[in-house]
Amino acid sequence: MAKKSFYITTPIYYANDRPHIGHAYTTILADVINRYHLLLGYETFFLTGTDEHGQKVEQAARQRGVTPQQQVDEFHVRFKELWERLNIRYDRFIRTTDEDHKAYVQKSLQELYDRGEIYLKEYAGWYSVGEERFFSEGELVDGKDPVSGKPVEWIAEKNYFFKMSQYRDRLIEHIQKNADFIQPEFRKNEVLGFLRQPLHDLCISRPISRLSWGIPLPFDTEFVTYVWFDALLNYESGVLGKQFSNGRPAWPADYHVIGKDILTTHAVYWPTMLMGLDRELPRHILAHGWWLNRGEKQSKSKGNAVNPLDYVERHGVDSVRYFLVRDMVLGQDASFTDELFTNRVNAELANDLGNAINRISKFTWAHYEGLLPEPGDPGEPEQELKQLANATLARVQSQVQVLNLSTALEEIASLVRGVNRYVEHRAPWKLAKDPAQKDAMGSVLYHGAEALRVALSLLWPVMPEKCRQGLAMLGRSGEPGLQDLIWGSLRGGEQLAPAVALFPRIDVTVREDGAKQDAVFPLDLRVSQIKSVSEHPEAESLYVLTVDTGGESRTICAGLKNTYTATDLEGRNVVVVANLKPAKLRGIISQGMVLAADGPDDRAILIDPGSIRVGVTLQAGDRVARPKAKASTKDLEALKPEVRRGRVESAFGPLHSGQVFVTCDAPDGAAVH
Ligand code: MSP
Repeated sequence: MAKKSFYITTPIYYANDRPHIGHAYTTILADVINRYHLLLGYETFFLTGTDEHGQKVEQAARQRGVTPQQQVDEFHVRFKELWERLNIRYDRFIRTTDEDHKAYVQKSLQELYDRGEIYLKEYAGWYSVGEERFFSEGELVDGKDPVSGKPVEWIAEKNYFFKMSQYRDRLIEHIQKNADFIQPEFRKNEVLGFLRQPLHDLCISRPISRLSWGIPLPFDTEFVTYVWFDALLNYESGVLGKQFSNGRPAWPADYHVIGKDILTTHAVYWPTMLMGLDRELPRHILAHGWWLNRGEKQSKSKGNAVNPLDYVERHGVDSVRYFLVRDMVLGQDASFTDELFTNRVNAELANDLGNAINRISKFTWAHYEGLLPEPGDPGEPEQELKQLANATLARVQSQVQVLNLSTALEEIASLVRGVNRYVEHRAPWKLAKDPAQKDAMGSVLYHGAEALRVALSLLWPVMPEKCRQGLAMLGRSGEPGLQDLIWGSLRGGEQLAPAVALFPRIDVTVREDGAKQDAVFPLDLRVSQIKSVSEHPEAESLYVLTVDTGGESRTICAGLKNTYTATDLEGRNVVVVANLKPAKLRGIISQGMVLAADGPDDRAILIDPGSIRVGVTLQAGDRVARPKAKASTKDLEALKPEVRRGRVESAFGPLHSGQVFVTCDAPDGAAVH
């Protein structure tokens, strides 16, 4: 029988910045949904990539002194590297600078133009650089961009427009007829609410005088394509000519997975564009909520974004994937804090799942040389366990169908607890003492292993690597598939892989309040604010700064002239070595040192404490500061701070406040002093 097919996408991420937890989440979510379909026997295609044109990218490039092409060549790699680290199994990574994509955008524009769907008009409106779109007066909140809260500018110019307004009624009808087109339901209602107001035509061009980094309009080279019009078409251009083996072309996509911030572009612009082009609409759009940190959206610009890689490095990629999928209820916002992460991982992975696998495996090695015993005659507890596993198989599959992944994981967690209860009740350690009970002990081990095999098969889409290892420890090799979603597929006599601790408990060492004091280092790296800047009377290369280190004012000499003007520096937050022995620099006593990295062309690039409050002393990895009275530059050298992937890493790990990591825009490997 021909396999069912499934095509899923993530948003393509702006290549203007490093990926953070929000990007990681959407991509992990799509990967998990994709892998569930693989597990259920579908043939799938998974598209992700980067959005590389437009003002954001052009601006980021200008700020860094590189060309837009260099910017995107460098930054798209960061996403690719992260996806590899997060075990994302995508089929294509599309870049909007790919030739086939650019050609497809131009072809689509020409088609729309030829159909009379595009016209030229003088236009004036409130433009938001952050969101790269115009807002009407009524849409502004307090005179600012309603999405990002950033200022908007009034811009008047000639532009090309797509006749989006004429598709309003057709779109409303489509959304109403296809109840699961936009998920979850309350997001659908939001879009319908939006569509109750009149729909504008969509400005789809930018004059090259204002923006040159984009795809030229095929019918007027004085303009480039509006970045959203370009970006949305990736979903089609990424699978041109792709056909599944059942004969179905990949387009239309089954799922566009997105964050709620880009719902309008996906649920209004995109379908109407497709209507104008007379093409099929995607089947479903799934909008998830935001990851919050203390009630605020995590974002790089707010400086409160959790870096997924830190958690991955400390606790392994699968724990992070598990937490993200487990703790976000479809569509709702969720919080990512250290405490929530630790509690979830310790309870469900270390205590319950890890423990259960460990027990079964340890006993099988101790009493059966690692060969799985025969099931024997199942008694009542075994029948109950089998029933629980079968019910879980059914419930998880139906939860997955409606993408209630968090609930699906809850079901699996409860099966695992059931296994632990079963093992407690049957107490193989007691049976082991009585040779007459050897078969009974074997039966307990078999049934425990089989129930855990079911749990691990169902968890595989979320934790592919750990589940592969766990399954091997129960005598099953390779990736699970449809044939594994039934009870009883383990056979007595199968050889188990050696036992390893799959999910070590997380020791709570790093706390924001600096609890746990045994691992220390001697420097006071303090977040401080530059209050005033003057020239050093004797030394041309130095500024004399007055710095607030948290209620205390200091004078510090700093060689930052190559990179920063006095106005750049005033009011800026920096990191200062606050317990450095004072030193006289050409007649002025410098009471500390401002940390900066070696940038290109002899430029010093400041370390950025982001949203960390002035006065906070930083930690290094899991070490807290126990500052000595007078530290020397040798103490700083011993810490070996340097920039890696935009972070400041030290000999003990990244510098952070317990919640927020300090960053630096210098290239990889730049020394910090
Ligand atoms: N380039 C556009 C998308 C074009 S798709 C045709 C864009 N890119 S983005 O880099 O800003 O990524 C936005 C997506 O990242 C959001 O839709 C969401 O999926 C994810 N997230 C960014 N911050 C987030 C959180 N704090 N929490 C969860 N996900 C969020 O918009």
